Amino acid sequence: MHARAVISSAAALLGTAALLLPLSPARAAGDTARPLVTAHRGASAYAPENTLAAVDEAAALGADWVENDVQRTKDGELVVLHDDSLRRTTDVEEVFPGRAPWKVKDFTLAEIARLDAGSWFGPAYAGARVPTLEQFVDRVEHHRQKLLLEIKNPQLYPGIERQALKVLGNQGWLDRRHVKHRLIVQSFSADSVRTVHELKPAVKTGFLGTPPAADLPAYAAFTDQINPSHASLSAGYVAAVHALDGAHGKPLEVFTWTVNDAAAARRVAGFGVDGIITDTPDVVRDAVRD
Ligand code: G3P
Ligand code: CA
Repeated sequence: MHARAVISSAAALLGTAALLLPLSPARAAGDTARPLVTAHRGASAYAPENTLAAVDEAAALGADWVENDVQRTKDGELVVLHDDSLRRTTDVEEVFPGRAPWKVKDFTLAEIARLDAGSWFGPAYAGARVPTLEQFVDRVEHHRQKLLLEIKNPQLYPGIERQALKVLGNQGWLDRRHVKHRLIVQSFSADSVRTVHELKPAVKTGFLGTPPAADLPAYAAFTDQINPSHASLSAGYVAAVHALDGAHGKPLEVFTWTVNDAAAARRVAGFGVDGIITDTPDVVRDAVRD
């Protein structure tokens, strides 16, 4: 059994007592202590989600990892936005009143570029734009951060996996340095994760969800992470994931989401998770550092 599996099993056995244990040095990966704090849609509690401002805010707060959501426009460009509609996070209703339900896939990049993706969050962010994947990746690179890229709604965008990998390659993110240490591609769609793995086996991948423990070996064939909601997480489940090797022959990891308060952060850290995805990277970092 891996050292990590032993630790996680111990946490499972100890139950709440495990919350009192210090984070194990065995969690260290390279020079980065675990759990790795990942800014969800950027530092989205403090800046409009999935914008360049949210990446900047994550960097200002010291978050090494940034998560985003990638979808495709009507004219085939990749943009960073969470919902399949532009309605919640832009002024699309005002700019294009006759175009309900304002789906991303029904708007061209030029049309989306006209939208204000910041005012809904606060006047300080008026004029923020929906970034292209290129722009987002370049901003992450500018800050020397790491990217947890989510392929969102892949069923709406056939071929998006290949296209996202092409953009990443064009932006220099598929060289050994990035692939080994700075990039993970994840999705709620197992098919999408499997496709990324088959297209670029070197790229680290994550499956978003909580598959039954009995099914984990099948996932381990094509993914390196199982990334569940923290609401559905237990120490026992983390131990079950850690007990298996993932697609790259290393123990399967767990990045859990979306953890925004100190108590929940300490709880999942006590389970032995490898990463915490959060809108409030400062809160989580301070909580797990304690
Ligand atoms: O990275 C995990 C998290 O982003 C998954 O949920 O809906 O925020 O994309 P969602
Ligand atoms: Ca996401």
